[in-house]
Amino acid sequence: MRSYSLIAPAKINLYLEIIGDRPDGYHELAMILQSISLADQIDIEPIGIDTISVRCDHAEVPNDKTNLAYRAAALLAEQFPDAMAQFGGVAINITKNIPIAAGLAGGSTDAAAVLVGLDLMWQLGLTQSELEELAAQIGSDVPFCIQGGTALATGRGEELSPLTNLDHLYVVLAKYRNLGISTVWAYKTYRQQFSETYVSEVQDLQTRQHRVHSGPMVSAIMHRNGAEIGKLLHNDLEKVALPEYPQVLELRQAFESQGVLGTMMSGSGPTVFALTESETEALRVLEAVKTQMAHPELEFWTAKFVSTGIRLAHS
Ligand code: C5P
Repeated sequence: MRSYSLIAPAKINLYLEIIGDRPDGYHELAMILQSISLADQIDIEPIGIDTISVRCDHAEVPNDKTNLAYRAAALLAEQFPDAMAQFGGVAINITKNIPIAAGLAGGSTDAAAVLVGLDLMWQLGLTQSELEELAAQIGSDVPFCIQGGTALATGRGEELSPLTNLDHLYVVLAKYRNLGISTVWAYKTYRQQFSETYVSEVQDLQTRQHRVHSGPMVSAIMHRNGAEIGKLLHNDLEKVALPEYPQVLELRQAFESQGVLGTMMSGSGPTVFALTESETEALRVLEAVKTQMAHPELEFWTAKFVSTGIRLAHS
């Protein structure tokens, strides 16, 4: 039985609107998600025994059952005990390039890669929708991470409609090394402060979702209009994160001062991204903001929008 190497891209949110509460305790969302070329590598290897092990080169990534990659393997082992019995356990090695607790779905994309890789290694033959259904049990962003590209995500974030490919755009990302924002904190604080704006009637909910689906951001994406996409970036979670973390707001302002297409915090933060139309421009903006902020804890990346989710390395 062979080993598999998978590329697991990060995501950014081009749009994140919180619509209401769900009976399961999550939020009803309308998001537009975009995969980027900043990616982890996941190597999975059969180990003749009945165990799951996770190793990661990043000190702060847990190697235990709290790691989403572990949970993905455990879920498949539980659902398909015969495959585990036949093929044995798995050693998962994570080469971490995506910053953690950053709003870039780093943990979710690793879990997505484990699902895709184990489906191959254990010869499960799962369909895309079966994989996505299992993925949703691990986390709201995991189904998108499998599919990748550009997509509208509703419900908890797991109901996906693919949108036009935007692989002509680039992004600069910046994050303070020791600053992480808890997703649970961000949504809980949003609920405390803004729940009076939540809609509860099913019809109102659908109206809000349709408004996004047929709205200006989706239209800008269909026209692959980077300037328009940049102007329409939106993230409701900025309303709680920016007042609490002024350094995130400062970063956003620094990117804005460079005349980028648009800038926004990704997901629950604290990573801030800025859109550009070329790699050269992305590198120019990176250097300018790095010099302007001159902060030793600030880390920067450039990346390209990509049209795929989890894929085999070297293919
Ligand atoms: O689904 P996931 O475990 O990634 O979500 C992390 C946390 O983010 C949830 O526990 C919840 O607090 C919040 N969340 C939410 N509504 C969503 C997605 C996430 O409230 N649709």
